[in-house]
Amino acid sequence: MKVRMTKTCVNLALVASLSAMLSACWEAPPTVSEQIGFRGTGMWTSTDGDRVEELVAANVLPEPIPAPATTAGPKAGDIYQNVQVLGDLSIGEFTHTMLAITQWVSPEQGCNYCHNGENFADDDLYTKVVARRMIQMNQSINNDWSSHVGSTGVTCLTCHRGQNVPEYIWFEEDGPKTAGGMAGKSYSQNHAAMDVGSTSMLSDPFSAYLNDDPATIRVIQNRPLAIKGDERYASTQATENTYSLMIHMSESLGVNCTACHNTRAFSSWDEAPPARTTAWHGLKMVPSLNQEYLDPLQGEYPDNRLGPLGDAPKVNCATCHQGANKPFYGQSMLDDYPVWKANSGS
Ligand code: HEC
Ligand code: HEC
Ligand code: HEC
Ligand code: HEC
Repeated sequence: MKVRMTKTCVNLALVASLSAMLSACWEAPPTVSEQIGFRGTGMWTSTDGDRVEELVAANVLPEPIPAPATTAGPKAGDIYQNVQVLGDLSIGEFTHTMLAITQWVSPEQGCNYCHNGENFADDDLYTKVVARRMIQMNQSINNDWSSHVGSTGVTCLTCHRGQNVPEYIWFEEDGPKTAGGMAGKSYSQNHAAMDVGSTSMLSDPFSAYLNDDPATIRVIQNRPLAIKGDERYASTQATENTYSLMIHMSESLGVNCTACHNTRAFSSWDEAPPARTTAWHGLKMVPSLNQEYLDPLQGEYPDNRLGPLGDAPKVNCATCHQGANKPFYGQSMLDDYPVWKANSGS
């Protein structure tokens, strides 16, 4: 995720002289700070004022598609031939849902992005098979993860934003190329990576923390001189890896560390803002979505959708948040699309 740290500009009028070529001017980004706790306790959040307008514009919801005239009548499962998940919807709700997912995922290609126009019951396009699993994943997010998404919930639009492939996805990486022989192993460090704020820390915190068997995030000791074998022993490298993950989280949400921590004591939950608890549930949700839904779709995608090591595309915090502390700044779409409400029976 791109976060502009500094603004550079070159004065074009002076470009004629060589020295002027070097006279780039620097300007610190305007920072908007807000106090979120008792004064003197370090409870502040800061946002990059430069990005506010851009983010607000990116988080405007499209006009809702008018609701179906009636939700009565026969069910989709009774009328259509191959409806495995949305069978309990009325025909009106079903059509409304198909129109909506077309707008959210494939507005340019239309229905035929997922359907063989000759026979809508066919499952011959991989996009339809993937979409069916996406529908189940979306239902599970809203039903089973209200600890994270509240009653705000998500729809396909939260991740897709009108695109076939969401803007923020991740794959497993081979790691940067390093010298062989006697050279030390790099442990995927020391190669500045955009995903972790252009630092040289662990360049892929995602495989480590957001997929199967997530690594332990807590690294701070509660006693001095913790030694190897101690329950809470953590190596310097593990500490740096936690940092990489935290940078990803901060950048995905467009916030700094203080949105979730009192920086006087990073490990303390008592002094932390409530957003940290929401984030904790997010750190349980994301690995579960990747394991249960996204990784297993590997066999369905064509090769050009797979990563360099052949794995399926996966989600991280940025996939939904896209730079905002809450996706769409907390606006819910579910009143306009009630079939996605938790336990709506669909
Ligand atoms: C992003 C993929 C996607 C798009 C775009 C899409 N659909 Fe679907 N459609 C599906 C999936 C998945 C199912 C099966 C749902 C299930 O199994 O519960 C389905 C099922 C159907 C069925 C039932 C066919 C049968 O007999 O089993 C109809 C009818 C249908 N869609 C119409 C449409 C129309 C009309 C559009 C365009 C306005 C559209 N769909 C756009 C994914 C899509
Ligand atoms: C939590 C984020 C998330 C949500 C919510 C979500 N998707 Fe996806 N979707 C993904 C990711 C990640 C991929 C993999 C991208 C790729 O295909 O390269 C994907 C891929 C797809 C694809 C395949 C596109 C292609 O061209 O390969 C379809 C179709 C799709 N999603 C439909 C849906 C539908 C329909 C919904 C809502 C019911 C939905 N998605 C909700 C994250 C999401
Ligand atoms: C969106 C919320 C959020 C943001 C932003 C965030 N953190 Fe965290 N942080 C957490 C959560 C949640 C945990 C605990 C995870 C767990 O216990 O599994 C944590 C854990 C940590 C820990 C380990 C604490 C321990 O007990 O060992 C450190 C250190 C840390 N964060 C540092 C940072 C730094 C530095 C930043 C800014 C670059 C940051 N965090 C930004 C939510 C956040
Ligand atoms: C499936 C989409 C999705 C993913 C993935 C996701 N979130 Fe969220 N997150 C949401 C939604 C929706 C809300 C708003 C919930 C509400 O309105 O109550 C939210 C809210 C939050 C909040 C509360 C913000 C506040 O100001 O109160 C934090 C913190 C947060 N998410 C952190 C994370 C972190 C960290 C990750 C990655 C580990 C993550 N989220 C991944 C959808 C997602």
